[in-house]
Amino acid sequence: MHVALTGATGFLGLRLLHRLLDTHGSVTVLARAGSGSALDRITRFFELTGAPTAFTAGLPARLRVVETDLSLPRLGLSRRTFQKVADGLGAIWHSAGSINLEGDLPELRRTNLEGTRHVLELAAAGRRKPVVHHVSTAFVAGARREGVAYEDELDDASGFENAYEQSKYEAELLVHAWSRQHGRPAVVLRPSILVTDVPPHPELPSHPLMVIERILREARHAAGPTSQGQGRDTAASGGRPEAGEHGPRGPGPADRPRVRAVGHPHGRLNLLQVEHAAEVMVRLAGRTPSGGVDTYHVVHDRDVPVPTVVTLLEELASLSIDLVATRPDAPSAVEAVLDFYPGLTAYLAHRRRFDDTRVRALLGPSGVSAPVGLDYLRSGLNPRAGALQESPRTPPRASLSARPV
Ligand SMILES: NC(=O)c1ccc[n+]([C@@H]2O[C@H](COP(=O)([O-])OP(=O)(O)OC[C@H]3O[C@@H](n4cnc5c(N)ncnc54)[C@H](OP(=O)(O)O)[C@@H]3O)[C@@H](O)[C@H]2O)c1
Repeated sequence: MHVALTGATGFLGLRLLHRLLDTHGSVTVLARAGSGSALDRITRFFELTGAPTAFTAGLPARLRVVETDLSLPRLGLSRRTFQKVADGLGAIWHSAGSINLEGDLPELRRTNLEGTRHVLELAAAGRRKPVVHHVSTAFVAGARREGVAYEDELDDASGFENAYEQSKYEAELLVHAWSRQHGRPAVVLRPSILVTDVPPHPELPSHPLMVIERILREARHAAGPTSQGQGRDTAASGGRPEAGEHGPRGPGPADRPRVRAVGHPHGRLNLLQVEHAAEVMVRLAGRTPSGGVDTYHVVHDRDVPVPTVVTLLEELASLSIDLVATRPDAPSAVEAVLDFYPGLTAYLAHRRRFDDTRVRALLGPSGVSAPVGLDYLRSGLNPRAGALQESPRTPPRASLSARPV
């Protein structure tokens, strides 16, 4: 059965492609037009993450790249090419999307909602009736911060933390409507927050924790010199003593500017290794679909405590974060900058759990992954010495990955 994949150059899509190539001789890559050669970018990913040379050398023969724009009718393809691609498919994986947690709703709808509509139209046009595998997110559960989110639930009763969540929720509604209208099966895969221990590299896609780290750093810089570790931000320090001397590696924990962030000390977040998520998704796709929409929470069996995430962010942004119940009345300069990202900081207050009974029933304990700890997360966020300076097209560095992808 021939498969097509959207978003194959993305953080998750690259891992999905890797897993799909385990079982498929070739894959049609529906890449974004104007983003540079998808084949080169995909090849570079496999080089950087330690894939065997024979594997990367075989990619040009195994990948058929079709340049598309998700936001356009017929994915921006001519009528003829659209039909030809559709007729060649036995399954279509839709992983492309915008994960811009700071984006506005119209922008996110263009990619996440209209993009899904156009992919579903491609699936509807195919004479072999390709099965749709739609990559959604566990965060369609929205702004309900406590309790349990179940795989069968899909409602907007609690609203959303940000426009990203809403656009993904609306895309799932579309998949349900499409399945009903055409009497066709669809598989909805809802991963939680995806992470990796592969260090950042300019030629690799970024991931959500990197975005949060960048925002914290920018907030610190935007807030000016008082927040640069040269003294406490007095509004946030509550009159505590001024910082002492800095060590050779910059301010130590006691010297960092303090920031109050709304969050829950018993909060927890679900973080899952991206490689494991891709493996679970492809295994789930191997099951015979029920005929309607089958939805799966692709999540870790153990949540990460919010204080662990806070420790990580404190280290990376050289801040001290105090979790508080409500937004401070007189925000410090750094806190005022962070207030621009309410849809992001909200996650520190989350205490809900994602139920994945259906996945466990199908895959058993082998669906469970290794713990996600501080060292693992540090590795995926700290650029190793030299890795960021590596010039493009240099041979793969063994240090980027301890093991093949
Ligand atoms: N990352 C996570 O933690 C996470 C968690 C839950 C769910 N998800 C879902 O997983 C999916 C993949 O996320 P990701 O982390 O891989 O995101 P990503 O790294 O940002 O990759 C997005 C992919 O979509 C493509 N794309 C974006 N706009 C497009 C357009 N207009 N036309 C064609 N292609 C377009 C991008 O192409 P270019 O490379 O050319 O830009 C890229 O291949 C998304 O649907 C996301 O909602 C992700």
